[in-house]
Amino acid sequence: MTMGSRMAGSALFRHLGPRLFSAASASRSSAALEPSFSLLQSSSLSPSPVLLRLFPVRMASTSASPALGGEAHKEDEAKSAAAVHPSEGKHVSSYWGIERYKITKEDGTPWRWSCFTPWEAYKSDTSIDLNKHHVPTTFLDKIAYWTVKILRFPTDIFFQRRYGCRAMMLETVAAVPGMVGGMFLHLRSLRRFEHSGGWIRALLEEAENERMHLMTFMEVAQPRWYERALVLAVQGVFFNAYFLGYLVSPKFAHRVVGYLEEEAIHSYTEYLKDLEAGKIENVPAPAIAIDYWCLPPDATLKDVVTVVRADEAHHRDVNHFASDIHYQGMELKSTPAPLGYH
Ligand SMILES: [Fe+2]
Ligand SMILES: [Fe+2]
Repeated sequence: MTMGSRMAGSALFRHLGPRLFSAASASRSSAALEPSFSLLQSSSLSPSPVLLRLFPVRMASTSASPALGGEAHKEDEAKSAAAVHPSEGKHVSSYWGIERYKITKEDGTPWRWSCFTPWEAYKSDTSIDLNKHHVPTTFLDKIAYWTVKILRFPTDIFFQRRYGCRAMMLETVAAVPGMVGGMFLHLRSLRRFEHSGGWIRALLEEAENERMHLMTFMEVAQPRWYERALVLAVQGVFFNAYFLGYLVSPKFAHRVVGYLEEEAIHSYTEYLKDLEAGKIENVPAPAIAIDYWCLPPDATLKDVVTVVRADEAHHRDVNHFASDIHYQGMELKSTPAPLGYH
């Protein structure tokens, strides 16, 4: 390190050190993150002019001082009350103006889910051909095919016929490729100053759809501690492996996902067989599934598995299609993306 850079470093530290590490600044930072009433109660801070300038609404809306009252104060209190999340009962500052508007279902009853909205719900197209298969002919396709077949082997041993648990665990993996692919295309779009053809959104939609599968199966089977540990390990490995795979060859990465989806269809078909044979109890469908797939109120687990399997068939098509585009020497952006293809 040169003398000049050392001097510049020490000058920077002298300037920023007290701001970053002083007790006063730490207290102010943590207070800003806490519910606003604790700002006054848990510290020696009083509503000084400086703080009022920094957090005008927060201070004004939560201070019990009559000096800050009036119509504006009442309005702020009403806003704060509106920002209370029903499930938590905690006050959230209205200072940022981020308040979720009230969402209701068609029948006027309140919307129960914060992880998706009514306009993201859809009716599944279960008429999709479940038997479509991409026959691996090229060397790369054969590697993709056998990679998935080999990965299936330990999965079969670990889960055997515990399909609820198997589905839940596999969905933690299935939701990764869409996010990685979408992220890659997003970054490429920024780097090259070019449009994506809608593929960023299409791949992120797939990731979100897979995550909703996970949210659904969590209602059917709860992960045990060692399964949670397994998810951590598998996600760490799979995310990085898929990231590298997509970097080196997107056509290979999409082909792998196409074959993974073919295996998922097979697994859900086996799941349905066990449900029909009475080996697994056909319990009522989780409420989240009824709202997400617009299922009838008396839907059962069998209906849920049927629509999830149809989703997997759509993902299979999208990913084999994406791989085919690359095989033809084109980029994804040259072909309009299958948006909203469920
Ligand atoms: Fe899935
Ligand atoms: Fe899928």
